[in-house]
This record gives sequence, structure tokens and C-alpha cells, in this order.
Amino acid sequence: MNTVHTLPQLRAAIAQARSAGQRIALVPTMGNLHAGHIALIKHAVARADFVVASIFVNPLQFGPNEDLDSYPRTLAADQKQLLEAGCSLLFNPSPEEMYPQGMAQHTNVSVPGVSEGLCGGSRPGHFDGVATVVCKLLNMVQPDMALFGEKDFQQLAVIRKMVADLNIPVQILAVPIVRDHDGLALSSRNGYLNAQQRASAPALYRSMQAVQAQIKNGRRDYATLFEQFKHDLQAAGFRLDYVELRDAHSLKLADAQSTQLVLLAAAYLGTTRLIDNLIFDL
Ligand code: PAF
Repeated sequence: MNTVHTLPQLRAAIAQARSAGQRIALVPTMGNLHAGHIALIKHAVARADFVVASIFVNPLQFGPNEDLDSYPRTLAADQKQLLEAGCSLLFNPSPEEMYPQGMAQHTNVSVPGVSEGLCGGSRPGHFDGVATVVCKLLNMVQPDMALFGEKDFQQLAVIRKMVADLNIPVQILAVPIVRDHDGLALSSRNGYLNAQQRASAPALYRSMQAVQAQIKNGRRDYATLFEQFKHDLQAAGFRLDYVELRDAHSLKLADAQSTQLVLLAAAYLGTTRLIDNLIFDL
């Protein structure tokens, strides 16, 4: 597996794969890879001939008080994991390579509707940053398919809408959440948790499962149900950011017509913000 840092190097490697008739998959990441990312690579390896991973901690998607500077950068360990998973090429550009004119005047891709509320409500500008960098990466690599994890459920919806609205010729594939043995969804941010917080962290998923079970049993008093959820989380040391039930296809508020639902939640343990979701049929 080669690692390239510049756009001309990336384009040359892609051109070679294309001229050999290979199907190309892109797995965009911000590095600090865990088993969730490796599942994306393995799905890609099963479907494509040439798998490109990108590692770029995208400053555009971090808010002013977020963890851009402290976000873990673990290139050597990431390269080893990518190689072992069968990745063909790693694109690891610098911020200057991605934004040569700086970010202030950069063209912005903004996806209305699905970017609003949920994480978009708590992290203003975040999804514009994600959509912009993913649009650039898709144009740089021009893959046949690109793979994203379902843990970032709203991000997936934003990317799907962007690709549809802008007619980007790529297939978007979603890969299910990978969880730790105790149910905690894998995330690079789990590494910020101290031992006590890590022990409390699975309460997020457990409490979501309890809410899901009650809804499946016919409960529809969501306000009371979510109040209980908030209390359960508080008891485990969390501070709730949001919990919502949405239509899994449109991401709009679930209504009587919704057949597949998604329960989405975000909560803080100390300063670490964890997100999770549960997709289920009614
Ligand atoms: O999910 C992520 O790691 C990032 O948001 C992505 C899609 C790589 C864009 O920077």
C-alpha cells in the first residue's frame, strides 16, 4: 500500500488503477482508525478492486471550541491497519494541499434540511464542513463507490442528499455500527474517556435499547419516555445533548407513515461528546 500526500500523486495512482479497468472504492476517514473503520475497508475490499482510504482531519468541520488540535493523529498505526485490511492506497493530504487558498474564501457545500437539527443543531457549520470536504474527496478520487459508517447517521443522510442533488456519479454504501463487547459504539473520541467514564459509557446504548423496546411495545408518550431516558443517562454521569426519534429514510420527525425509525442520541461524558443511533422497524 502506497501513501500519497499530494493531489498530483493521488491522480497518477488513480489513473493507473482506472486504466487497468479496476473498480475504485473510497473510504474517507479522519484517521485514528478502529475496528469500525476497518469494517469499512473490508466492505470496500469485497466490492472493489482498488480501495483508497483518506486520512484528513478536516479543520472545516470543527467548531471554534471543538477538538481539532487534540484530535488523535496516529498515522503509522493507521497505515499498518490499512495495509493488513487490504487497502490499496492511502491519501493523507495536509490542510494546505486540501485548502491551498485557505478556508475563509473556500466554496462551501451546504445541504439544507437534513443538516439541520440533531448534530447540526449542536454543531453549527459542522455538516457544511463535512459536505465540502467529502465533495472535494469525491472529485479528487472519482470513485465508483464511497463507504461511510452508520454511526454518523445524519452525516450519511447529508452525503446521500449532496450526491443526489449535485449528480455526483458515485454509489454511497452504508456500513453498520461496530460496537465494543459492552455495546459502546466504536469512535475515535472514546479514547478521550477516562477509566470511570469508559465504564459508564455503555449506558448510552443500553438506555437507547430500553427506549426502543418500549416504543416497540406500543408506547407513544415520547416526551415522558425521553425524560426517563435523560434521567437514566444523568444517573450514569452523562449530560444529554439530544434524543430524537426520526424517520430512518427521510430523517424527518417520525409520523404514522414511518415504517423504519431511527432513535438518535448525543450526550456528553465530561467534555467528550458521544453519539449513537438505533435503527428499527415498527
Ligand atoms: O466521518 C468522518 O470521519 C468525517 O466526517 C469524514 C466523512 C471523513 C469527513 O471528514
